Amino acid sequence: MNLSKEQAYALQCIIRGENTCVAGPGGTGKSYILSELRSVFGDGLVVLAPTGLAALNVRGATIHSFFKLKPGLYNFEPKSHVVPPHLAKLLNKAKAIYIDEVSLVRADLFITLEFILRKARMSDQPFGGVQMIVAGDFLQLPPILSKKSERDYFKYHGQLPYCFDTGAWLKARFKVVELTKNFRQQQDPEFIKILNSIRCGDFTSRYLLDDKELDCIEILNESVEIRDQPPEDTISLCTTSRRASEINLNQMDRYESTAARFEAKCHGKLDYNNLPTERHLFLKEGVRVMVLKNIPSVCVNGSMGTVVEINLEKSSVTVALDSGVQAVFIQHLWEELDYILEEDEGTGEMKIFTEVVGSFYQLPLRVCFAQTIHKSQGQTFDECHVDLGAGTFTTGQLYTALSRVRSRNGLTLSRRIRYNDLKKDLHVLQFYDENGAVQEEV
Ligand SMILES: Nc1ncnc2c1ncn2[C@@H]1O[C@H](COP(=O)(O)OP(=O)(O)OP(=O)(O)O)[C@@H](O)[C@H]1O
Ligand SMILES: [Mg+2]
Repeated sequence: MNLSKEQAYALQCIIRGENTCVAGPGGTGKSYILSELRSVFGDGLVVLAPTGLAALNVRGATIHSFFKLKPGLYNFEPKSHVVPPHLAKLLNKAKAIYIDEVSLVRADLFITLEFILRKARMSDQPFGGVQMIVAGDFLQLPPILSKKSERDYFKYHGQLPYCFDTGAWLKARFKVVELTKNFRQQQDPEFIKILNSIRCGDFTSRYLLDDKELDCIEILNESVEIRDQPPEDTISLCTTSRRASEINLNQMDRYESTAARFEAKCHGKLDYNNLPTERHLFLKEGVRVMVLKNIPSVCVNGSMGTVVEINLEKSSVTVALDSGVQAVFIQHLWEELDYILEEDEGTGEMKIFTEVVGSFYQLPLRVCFAQTIHKSQGQTFDECHVDLGAGTFTTGQLYTALSRVRSRNGLTLSRRIRYNDLKKDLHVLQFYDENGAVQEEV
């Protein structure tokens, strides 16, 4: 594995045992270094993410399922928490905890898991002394405060939703290592500059386009195709899930062929709000799908393609992948994992093993004409259509959407970007000013 110097430096800090925050713009390979961490820590590494899809991206569990927490609001000053004995044993055995997409982890949840770790490990050290590795970009989407009661609670306490605005973060003295070498957009260097300006909410920097000096918004509006409808075979990234469903349904209707229905087989404990694809999956020939499985030298999780044949007798679906290869898909088994502690038969040592608590059996395909920008955080696309609808409504939304695609050749917009689509969060910029930009040479 060829890590950039900065990635190697982040890895070095982690190996030294420091609580580390791997930060930096989208596409700089924050999640990429996880495979190195897996070989460094082995079974002692617990891999977590705030949402089901983000967990799927890194082959980990969600924070809520791992810590046995119900969704909801948690006290900023936890006084007591019953840690199930099985979880306590597990937490005592963990060498390190890795959390991806940490920008989406809300402050109350971060405080709670820090408290649980101290209790479970009977230690006053931050996070009970377990090494924490977090990765993410706080200038992408912020944690969600969906209910008014939640927003009121945060406002009343003068608390930001981000995990860095907590005592837990301060006590753990996270070393923030900012990655800057962009791998995702490396074929379009000017796009990298534009994206970096948008990320920091700065449209005063001017760049050249055909000898005209323009700001980043003007340059994108001039150099990217604007169209009502997405180009055929291109995924739309939408600000709202309602708009994404609307596009998915509209696009399905365009196809004359009859819809085939595939029913999933579900067993055990499953998080029905975060299934990888539909339980009742409707497919039609000609429909765009995303593959949700890696098949070595054929496709990876996230590859796009078009359904060319449905065989109901065999329950199989043939997909013409965008890479030019055709592949036949049958139902795939997903296992919902949990972590358990067991004695290693060889050494007699207690070790962490994963336990299957539920299963979901369905075609590894998702109809994918459109999805929310929120769901797309962490993903890379060759082509995408950004549907800004009535406008972005939260900070980082425009940047997260635009930074998914590798180059401007693969990008189209539903309308021109407006200056008020670019929403910056001064608290995050201040956090980066004070803590970021540790880019030491190795
Ligand atoms: N050292 C590397 N060598 C080759 N490719 C790399 C390297 N690091 C990252 N990449 C590739 O760059 C792309 C972006 O990497 P990755 O998804 O890890 O970025 P990220 O910083 O986690 O982005 P995001 O903020 O969007 O989650 C991926 O396709 C990944 O495989
Ligand atoms: Mg990532």
